[in-house]
Amino acid sequence: MFLPHFLSRCLNFVRVKHLLAVLVVFLILNFFGAFTHIFEKDFYTEFQYPLDGDIPRFADQVRRGQKPEVPPITVYNHTFVHNPSHKCRDKEFSVSPRLVFLVKSAMGNFKRRNAIRATWGFEKRFSDVIVRTVFLLGVGNSQETQKLIEIEATSYGDILQADFLDTYFNNTIKTMTGLRWAVDFCPRSRYFMLVDDDFFVSTKNVLRFLRNPVYYPEYLEEADETIRQLARKLTLTEGNSSGGVDRRDIQRVLEDHPQAHSVDSRKHLWQLRQHLLSPEVAAKPPDAKETNKTPERQLLDMDLPADVRLYAGFVFNSAPHRHRSSKWYVNLEEYQWHMWPPYVSAGACILSREALFQLYFASLFTKHFRFDDIYLGIVALKTNIEPLHSEEFYFQKLTYSGPHSYRYTIASHGYDNPDELAKVWTEIKAAGHA
Ligand SMILES: *[C@@H]1O[C@H](CO)[C@@H](O)[C@H](O)[C@H]1NC(C)=O
Ligand SMILES: *[C@@H]1O[C@H](CO)[C@@H](O)[C@H](O)[C@H]1NC(C)=O
Ligand SMILES: *[C@@H]1O[C@H](CO)[C@@H](O)[C@H](O)[C@H]1NC(C)=O
Repeated sequence: MFLPHFLSRCLNFVRVKHLLAVLVVFLILNFFGAFTHIFEKDFYTEFQYPLDGDIPRFADQVRRGQKPEVPPITVYNHTFVHNPSHKCRDKEFSVSPRLVFLVKSAMGNFKRRNAIRATWGFEKRFSDVIVRTVFLLGVGNSQETQKLIEIEATSYGDILQADFLDTYFNNTIKTMTGLRWAVDFCPRSRYFMLVDDDFFVSTKNVLRFLRNPVYYPEYLEEADETIRQLARKLTLTEGNSSGGVDRRDIQRVLEDHPQAHSVDSRKHLWQLRQHLLSPEVAAKPPDAKETNKTPERQLLDMDLPADVRLYAGFVFNSAPHRHRSSKWYVNLEEYQWHMWPPYVSAGACILSREALFQLYFASLFTKHFRFDDIYLGIVALKTNIEPLHSEEFYFQKLTYSGPHSYRYTIASHGYDNPDELAKVWTEIKAAGHA
């Protein structure tokens, strides 16, 4: 009697153990989204996000003030509590900023906004480039905070506040409110930068990037190299009456590179300019056609076309998070496909005017999604705008080890401490990189 009973207990135990093991494995797999993955649809062949149809066409109809064939499905029309409507105007005239920062901020972050106003968001940073800064906010329950925001909005005139609850998962509303404001109140700006209030930005590098985004920062290095070689040639042939450097070569380099990008380049450019100023060279009359080209002209020549559709930053090609502990967990009901469309990481994203307009009007025909960067990626896909990737946008903090480490950096996450931002920015600016 004793032996069989013992045996069956053992067997039962083994069975329960197996069952338990299977259950645990099942729960773990489920937690990490294994079963969700099985039911995902293929992004590359089956992506079909509402609304179906010719979105660019409907968007264009609304943009032209016509009645679209299909009524809009998503309207981000939250009422403005504060509207800096004068931002892109000078009295009754509208101005055309080169760049407008649309800074996504949270209500309570007064110190961060002040630091940004004094550093990268400072509108008078460059005497010859019009830059504007606007802070995007929602609303909250604290009367006290709201009172302070009233004062802030009156003092600085840069607060864009709309009546949606200011929470993380309302970020898409915040971003789209910013786009709508840009379309209505700053339609002549060339470029816009959507950026979080915990970022370091080098406005100087943003402007350099915009001159040649595909070859940034290599084009700066190439420019440095061209200048260096010519200066070297000049040094080697100085005092050599039979050889020497052609004056027109020097002029061409000076025209192509009106600004130095590094300390060495600055020295070399100075040397080249001195050479042109020296009497024996000045005696020869310059070629009339070539001297018409002022450095300013040359700069404009390098500019992107006015209708370029630039949607640039750090581009992700990634998959939705299906493990349930993730802050970014998404179930199949919300998003069915195994990949996200390529999208620019939300922290720092540059849009040209044409891209911003097309994205805004296409969003009216694109179902809402709560992650703002992925939403813009979806809208971009529907309106055939391809994101441009640049390694100089850091979605994590780039370790700061002196200004040189941020030489080409356009934006870096991780500056939630306003004092640190001010210190780092001041150093980088002094070194000529901000
Ligand atoms: C926003 O748009 C929706 C849909 O068109 C409309 O029902 C609502 O009244 C609008 N709200 C505001 C504040 O304009
Ligand atoms: C987003 O804002 C709306 C409007 O204020 C609010 O009703 C909604 O609860 C908010 N959503 C989240 C996720 O906070
Ligand atoms: C002067 O320049 C010519 C032509 O570039 C070169 O052949 C010659 O060696 C140079 N002379 C000196 C002294 O550098």
